[in-house]
Amino acid sequence: MPPRLATLAPLVAALAALTAVARAAPAEAASLAAGAADTAAAAAAPTPATMLPNCTRFSAENATELEVFCLLDNTDFRLRISHTPTHSRLVVVCEPHDMRRTDYEALYAMNLRLGVTHSVVLHQCPLPDGTLRHFVQQLGVRGVRLVKVVSLGLLNDTMPADFLDGMDLETLHLDGLTRIQLHDDFFASTGSLHNLTITGTNTSLPDGLLRHTPQLRKLHIRNLNAGRLPVTFLHGLHNLTKLLATRNGLSELTREHFRDLGRLRHLDLYKNSLETLPGDVFASLTELEVLRMECNPFRALNETLFAGTPRLKLLRINGRLNVDVDVSSLPAGIFRGLSHPGAY
Ligand SMILES: *[C@@H]1O[C@H](CO)[C@@H](O)[C@H](O)[C@H]1NC(C)=O
Ligand SMILES: *[C@@H]1O[C@H](CO)[C@@H](O)[C@H](O)[C@H]1NC(C)=O
Ligand SMILES: *[C@@H]1O[C@H](CO)[C@@H](O)[C@H](O)[C@H]1NC(C)=O
Ligand SMILES: *[C@@H]1O[C@H](CO)[C@@H](O)[C@H](O)[C@H]1NC(C)=O
Ligand SMILES: *[C@@H]1O[C@H](CO)[C@@H](O)[C@H](O)[C@H]1NC(C)=O
Ligand SMILES: *[C@@H]1O[C@H](CO)[C@@H](O)[C@H](O)[C@H]1NC(C)=O
Ligand SMILES: *[C@@H]1O[C@H](CO)[C@@H](O)[C@H](O)[C@H]1NC(C)=O
Repeated sequence: MPPRLATLAPLVAALAALTAVARAAPAEAASLAAGAADTAAAAAAPTPATMLPNCTRFSAENATELEVFCLLDNTDFRLRISHTPTHSRLVVVCEPHDMRRTDYEALYAMNLRLGVTHSVVLHQCPLPDGTLRHFVQQLGVRGVRLVKVVSLGLLNDTMPADFLDGMDLETLHLDGLTRIQLHDDFFASTGSLHNLTITGTNTSLPDGLLRHTPQLRKLHIRNLNAGRLPVTFLHGLHNLTKLLATRNGLSELTREHFRDLGRLRHLDLYKNSLETLPGDVFASLTELEVLRMECNPFRALNETLFAGTPRLKLLRINGRLNVDVDVSSLPAGIFRGLSHPGAY
């Protein structure tokens, strides 16, 4: 028996067990386990001419979920797909994390035709070579609206400028970026992007990163450890309604930062390093309804702070970690002009 067979059999069994645990329906689990055993048995008796497939697919009878398990040299990675009519998702999980970009060729070779798939998640996986469009085409995937790349700080990758070309995404999450560098023109082709999340501990955002996304509605930047937000970073985002800029170590914000955010309704500045804010910093945010600023080391707040935000309904200033300022010590006139103040 070739050594690779000896390695594959326990892995197949492990995968079947894992899937069985994850499944609620015992009948399906049994049928899946049986299927896996058949595959292992078949693999154990190949004719000399047959080459062991690098990737194996499993699917229970009537299952809405398809799993593919690949073994390549010493690197294995899993591809998990679940399809339901309303919410379809493709998740690629890489274990261990040293999978190479070229290893995706093994998946492409399976000629999968996955069809309409709303979300694509790459979990701790290297970015595939070429564009994302090429990647999904190789898997027969269509209609992708959401892409999530979860790095958890493990990857060292550069996303090329054309990575998103031709994808027409609505939502993009880039989570846990540590060393990934985004090219300045990264979003040049994402005309329909509405929601964008970028998190990471050591990622620097190019000043002009969002200049191609005036249609953005929700933006979440977190844990960037940036210390500063480029003053032009949010310029042109006239349709932004929600901005979460939490845990970024920001110590300075000015009116100029928020210049174009006349539609913003929700602003979250939780856990930054703000000690003070200019009295007119929120002057452009005439539609603002929710403002969260807990866990900042504020020393004082200017009494004109909310003069330009008449629709403010929810204000959170004190956080558990911030005992220095409480609402009772705010300047007397600070809520002047608010119709629905509710401070927490
Ligand atoms: C699979 O689906 C068919 C038709 O919908 C049904 O007749 C059959 O009982 C199902 N089998 C299982 C194991 O659910
Ligand atoms: C499958 O694995 C073998 C041995 O590691 C390798 O030579 C071959 O190129 C792989 N095939 C694909 C399609 O990746
Ligand atoms: C990241 O990868 C590049 C080459 O791809 C290498 O030069 C660099 O040292 C790596 N950085 C880290 C922190 O691993
Ligand atoms: C993304 O935006 C669309 C519409 O622009 C919205 O319906 C959807 O809920 C958003 N998704 C997320 C994850 O925020
Ligand atoms: C953060 O990035 C800088 C340069 O880009 C690098 O020198 C530093 O080692 C990185 N820190 C961590 C914790 O990765
Ligand atoms: C902003 O929103 C308005 C109204 O929803 C829409 O007509 C306009 O095209 C949007 N602008 C951009 C740049 O997407
Ligand atoms: C409050 O802000 C206004 C406008 O930014 C500024 O002119 C004024 O000096 C500030 N007041 C205090 C007490 O800092």
